[in-house]
Amino acid sequence: MNNESALLSVRHAVYDYRTKAETVHALRDVSLDFHAGMMYAVVGRSGSGKSTLLSMIAGFDRLKAGEILVNGENLSKMDPETYRRKHVGMVFQAYHLIPQLTVSENIRLAMEIAGYVCNDVHSYVNTLLEKVGLDASYAKKRVTRLSGGEQQRVAVARAVSTHADILLADEPTGNLDDENAEMIVDLLYRMAHEDGKCVIMVTHSLELAQKCDQIYRLAGGKNVAEV
Ligand SMILES: Nc1ncnc2c1ncn2[C@@H]1O[C@H](COP(=O)(O)OP(=O)(O)O)[C@@H](O)[C@H]1O
Ligand SMILES: [Mg+2]
Repeated sequence: MNNESALLSVRHAVYDYRTKAETVHALRDVSLDFHAGMMYAVVGRSGSGKSTLLSMIAGFDRLKAGEILVNGENLSKMDPETYRRKHVGMVFQAYHLIPQLTVSENIRLAMEIAGYVCNDVHSYVNTLLEKVGLDASYAKKRVTRLSGGEQQRVAVARAVSTHADILLADEPTGNLDDENAEMIVDLLYRMAHEDGKCVIMVTHSLELAQKCDQIYRLAGGKNVAEV
């Protein structure tokens, strides 16, 4: 049963990690739908498969069984790099900006890697910064000069710089204080509701999860009743 209107449809997803010593069944049977213009929280205990689910949606590896449909098309039939470039933006707990580079250079590098061409990069970067609540003076700053909240804003700007329609955020507020955590979640929420992104955020915080349109809970590699 596919939900035709879903941007992303995860169907009976199964994924194992195989090490010499053991096989870990990280995803046992996950079926979830994600729509454009919505923000989702994925919650669950440590080890329940949340990061693995995001990795599979990001196209980092193939499922062992089941499928992920993107606009109805099977992800396993697409070239993963092309899919990622076109569709996926990622935000991480530790920001993952390149410390030697300025704010602008960090964003421009991501655009270059994605092959995203833009006539006036300078003003495009300023528009992105404005979108995440940073004025144009930030463009030339080294990212290491910025606070955690500011770095995460830059990471969000970078994630949307290539017009990805799927934003994956794995505990994006894990390193932030309460005020900045809320600010980042509000920002991601606006990306969904104002720009039509499909935002999927893993979080430990039920309070932040409750700001999302829908909460999905994983337990032992399966999705359990929605909260
Ligand atoms: N690279 C890996 N190699 C082996 N096992 C892994 C690897 N990554 C995650 N796991 C295991 O897979 C399960 C799910 O992990 P993960 O998706 O990271 O959970 P969560 O993000 O919910 O904490 C856990 O048992 C974890 O130990
Ligand atoms: Mg995780």
